[in-house]
Amino acid sequence: MTTPTRPILVWDLPVRVFHWLMVLCFAGAYLTAESDGLRLVHVTLGYTMAGLVGFRLVWGLIGTRYARFSEFVRGPRAVAGYLRDLFSGKARHFTGHNPAGALAILALLGLTLAVTLSGHATLNALGGEWLEDAHEAVANLMLGVVIVHIGGVLASSLLHREKLVPAMVHGRKAGAEGEGIRSGWNVVGILLLAAVLGFWWLQWQSPPAALADGVRAESHDRGHKHHDD
Ligand code: HEM
Ligand code: HEM
Repeated sequence: MTTPTRPILVWDLPVRVFHWLMVLCFAGAYLTAESDGLRLVHVTLGYTMAGLVGFRLVWGLIGTRYARFSEFVRGPRAVAGYLRDLFSGKARHFTGHNPAGALAILALLGLTLAVTLSGHATLNALGGEWLEDAHEAVANLMLGVVIVHIGGVLASSLLHREKLVPAMVHGRKAGAEGEGIRSGWNVVGILLLAAVLGFWWLQWQSPPAALADGVRAESHDRGHKHHDD
């Protein structure tokens, strides 16, 4: 007999806000990377990702059941076992992250730190040209892992006949009664979003020192043009 399942809350609001902000920031940072005029947008989205990962590391220790690292981080044997089962078509179903997905998640968190640290060093000219090259290389490696991550999400959705992408939006999956989390911690999710919007506003008001001159010169020019008109 199989256990009856019904929609249960798995992803709290902070995890969902974190995830979709990461998607937005990664896409935005990647698309603005080559533009000098959009450098403020590029670095602001990058620093936002660093802050989001900082939050996620804390939430992975004190957050709800499926957000905790202790719930989904598994050793190499568990990952290899899961992948073996996956290829023979009998992979076990996990209510939270599966062991292979968890590996991609850890890689994405680590790569975010690497790309933002190297970006910060590039912006502040803390090293030579090699830092800029390293920053670009890590960003491209990360794009590769994101593609694998999305492929894994789609494969897992097909295999287990569940809609993982909508689940990351509304937070619910089919599961056994009693396995869901009790609270979505909406207040924390809203505060996280408010903190990000506040940071963006602050960056707009006073850009980082390494960028400030260029940005101020531009807005000064714009001001003059306005007066001349
Ligand atoms: C703290 C966050 C970040 C800072 C401060 C930062 C800063 C910079 C700066 C200053 C450059 C220009 C280098 C130059 O040509 O002079 C750059 C380039 C680049 N950044 Fe970032 N970045 C950050 C995050 C990111 C993220 C998250 C990504 C990936 C999504 C990314 C991808 C790239 C790429 C691909 C280039 C090379 C563009 C080209 O082809 O010239 N950066 N970044
Ligand atoms: C449109 C592109 C994307 C889609 C559709 C997507 C979808 C998903 C889904 C469905 C999950 C939950 C997986 C599960 O059920 O185990 C997830 C988790 C995750 N994804 Fe994505 N993802 C995308 C892009 C990204 C990007 C660009 C990043 C990072 C830069 C990212 C980082 C993560 C992380 C860190 C988690 C773990 C969530 C947590 O526990 O906090 N994803 N993603």
